[in-house]
Amino acid sequence: MIFLFFGRAARSTIAAAALAASCAFFASPSSALDKTDAQPGDAAPGQSRAAVFQRVKKLADVGQRLFADPGLSASGSMSCATCHDAAKGFAPANALAVQLGGKNLDQAGLRAAPGLTYLQTTPRFTEHYHESDDDGDESVDAGPTGGLMWDGRINQVAAQALFPLFSPYEMANEDHAALARVIDAKYGAELRAIMEGTMPEGEDFALRAAAKALQAYQETPAAFFPYNSKYDFFLKGQVALTDQEKHGLDLFNDEKKGNCASCHFSAQPKPGVMPQFSDAGFIALGLPRNKDIPRNADPAFFDLGLCGPERTDFKDQTDYCGTFKAPTLRNVALRQSFFHNGVFHDLREAVAFYVERDVKPEKYYPRRIDGTVDKFNDLPVQYRANINNDPPFGGKPGDAPAMTDAEIDDVVAFLKTLTDGYAPPSPETHADR
Ligand code: HEC
Ligand code: HEC
Repeated sequence: MIFLFFGRAARSTIAAAALAASCAFFASPSSALDKTDAQPGDAAPGQSRAAVFQRVKKLADVGQRLFADPGLSASGSMSCATCHDAAKGFAPANALAVQLGGKNLDQAGLRAAPGLTYLQTTPRFTEHYHESDDDGDESVDAGPTGGLMWDGRINQVAAQALFPLFSPYEMANEDHAALARVIDAKYGAELRAIMEGTMPEGEDFALRAAAKALQAYQETPAAFFPYNSKYDFFLKGQVALTDQEKHGLDLFNDEKKGNCASCHFSAQPKPGVMPQFSDAGFIALGLPRNKDIPRNADPAFFDLGLCGPERTDFKDQTDYCGTFKAPTLRNVALRQSFFHNGVFHDLREAVAFYVERDVKPEKYYPRRIDGTVDKFNDLPVQYRANINNDPPFGGKPGDAPAMTDAEIDDVVAFLKTLTDGYAPPSPETHADR
């Protein structure tokens, strides 16, 4: 685990944390953003904890309605829930690589819509991350870590909410004041009653309060981090994994086999604390280019993640090009498109890619006219040294893969135990068996 951190650290030598710049690209929402600093749980003067709790609950309830309200989009037919379906771990309910948004729902996005569960522990984006856990080595710089979005460019969930509302390929509003009026007409009275004393009235009040409400909703444990997958019950000793799932877990953890847990943490960091299945680190996996993304029709266009184009603060930091944030694998089996460019549509294929990228590249990359395999075709040649080669990657074409087909199946079986909403067998049904 430490050597992996070191590998990431080796690529982060220049100190240039330009955090503020990460939000600069959406210049228009930033005025509203500045005023969203208050947290949903902040107390008004003299408010008791019980009162604060009630207020956050009411705010989350408005947030849930806002999340599903297509009236907040320029098209009138798209809400957050269109791309983030509660029944799918808040991932899309379809298998499109990128979703269509905009005024006429014909503007394709650049990246796959992520699920929204278990984001609550994601650290703020930092270029130099030092483990503070008991078992971590604080002197080791793990490199860029954290933040929201595939490139970590946004920190606050409330600030994040403003982004899709104004993104031209998502909900596509153009005018702050106009959207604030729409929200005010429908939710204004309720939001004012809830926010009284904690958020000043004034320009775009309804928009600022709505962002807070969306944040409060996304911080609701029951919906966004319930920790009720089969694996959680297994960790609590309340259910056994099948032999196949258990074997998959062992392979997932084994540094010479899956080695998955080196980035997708599977162990409890301390007793009583559940694992998040992500270290929020930035890694280049060298994924195949996805021709289903319209922007990729331009052969000169590349989505380089941390070094652009969606964020611009690291555009000259070429050793970050091609790196994206490791997502949690909780609820991953509910997804229908995988990785930042949604290039795979089958969980087994996503896992097999790790194992076979270097030993069977012809399965994943197209051939050039001369018949050679165009490996790493989604990253310009000069950035390919950034690509990760730790196990299960490695080897050369024709070598034995790090895991057999049956072992890949076992890892997939294990990943399916990370889906929330598992009902553990009750003691009676247990006795029947
Ligand atoms: C058109 C589809 C679409 C809509 C509508 C949409 N999103 Fe997203 N969402 C995305 C995509 C795509 C990303 C990843 C973008 C990126 O990384 O550049 C994302 C990222 C996020 C993230 C960060 C997740 C992470 O893993 O870091 C959050 C939080 C989020 N959206 C919440 C919302 C909220 C709240 C709304 C409604 C106000 C919303 N989204 C509306 C597509 C959508
Ligand atoms: C070196 C760190 C690292 C290791 C090791 C690793 N992953 Fe990942 N994983 C990532 C990163 C980073 C991404 C996102 C990359 C991207 O989209 O460009 C990712 C994405 C994924 C996704 C797609 C999730 C989604 O929401 O689309 C799956 C599935 C996955 N990993 C499974 C695994 C499995 C299974 C293993 C072991 C065989 C593994 N990973 C090993 C870093 C790692």
